[in-house]
Amino acid sequence: MNTIAESQTVQGKESAKMRSPEKGTLIAAHQREFTRTIGEISSPNPRIMCRDVNVYYGEKHAIQNVSLDVGHNEVIALIGPSGCGKSTFLRCLNRMNDTIVGCRVTGSIRLDGQDIYDGGLDVVPLRAQVGMVFQKPNPFPKSIYENVAYGPKIHGLANSKAELEEIVESSLRRAGLWDEVKDDLAKPGTSLSGGQQQRLCIARTIAVSPEVILMDEPCSALDPIATAKIEQLIDELRELYTIAIVTHSMQQAARVSQRTAYFHLGRLIEVGDTAQVFTNPRHPLTEDYITGRFG
Ligand SMILES: Nc1ncnc2c1ncn2[C@@H]1O[C@H](COP(=O)(O)OP(=O)(O)OP(=O)(O)O)[C@@H](O)[C@H]1O
Ligand SMILES: [Mg+2]
Repeated sequence: MNTIAESQTVQGKESAKMRSPEKGTLIAAHQREFTRTIGEISSPNPRIMCRDVNVYYGEKHAIQNVSLDVGHNEVIALIGPSGCGKSTFLRCLNRMNDTIVGCRVTGSIRLDGQDIYDGGLDVVPLRAQVGMVFQKPNPFPKSIYENVAYGPKIHGLANSKAELEEIVESSLRRAGLWDEVKDDLAKPGTSLSGGQQQRLCIARTIAVSPEVILMDEPCSALDPIATAKIEQLIDELRELYTIAIVTHSMQQAARVSQRTAYFHLGRLIEVGDTAQVFTNPRHPLTEDYITGRFG
């Protein structure tokens, strides 16, 4: 991982290959100006701090100079047209992009002040600290109980069977699923409905005591009732966690988030309080998107 200064140098170097050093610096400066975000990127109480983040898939420059904080107990919605880089950016936050061959990330991403791309950092505990819930519920092919117990077991979070049972129950309760499954804990996770499976996946994420939960279109496969349950849950979870949610539903973004970040072609165009972004967008691209003219 490069620091901010290094990442700027890298950009400078890349441009300099083609032009003179002075021109290279100028182009890099223009690039930064071009990708400047409208709105307040920083948070008074940041949990995650991203600065000048770039992501490349081979030659493809999928995320361009994105700087953004996400605060404690905040839900931030990441919105924008298909292919604009929402999932790519989300995956940077727990180094899931590491698993993609040819993917390269530069810039700086800090979780509670710690550089998560530090060479010495172990990604296994990081991915427990920064958990992820995917578009399609993906329970393990195991019982409901084991789906939730697995993480605490491998991370050594329970000292006894009773403690493990307590974690499983409290996680399922917090995920709003306990009453529906308490008599069926031995049944396969896959035997649940889609909405229940998604809440099971949230319980599984919560069970390892994360600080941040990343959600990539968590309701897109769910009906309106299951969606409402997940949205209510997100609101409750905010008391304990920082949440970043990708959604294509602007109603959902408006309902669940306090801040909204609008991405377009790999750039973070605008970020601000959700109400402001939806009622009074400052960038014409944001306005086009939220009024349905684009996307
Ligand atoms: N594994 C990959 N290899 C190469 N290019 C990729 C890969 N994943 C994403 N991309 C490219 O990076 C860009 C951003 O993709 P990403 O999936 O982050 O967009 P998105 O905003 O999440 O889109 P959607 O709303 O459709 O999910 C796209 O141009 C996409 O084609
Ligand atoms: Mg996506």
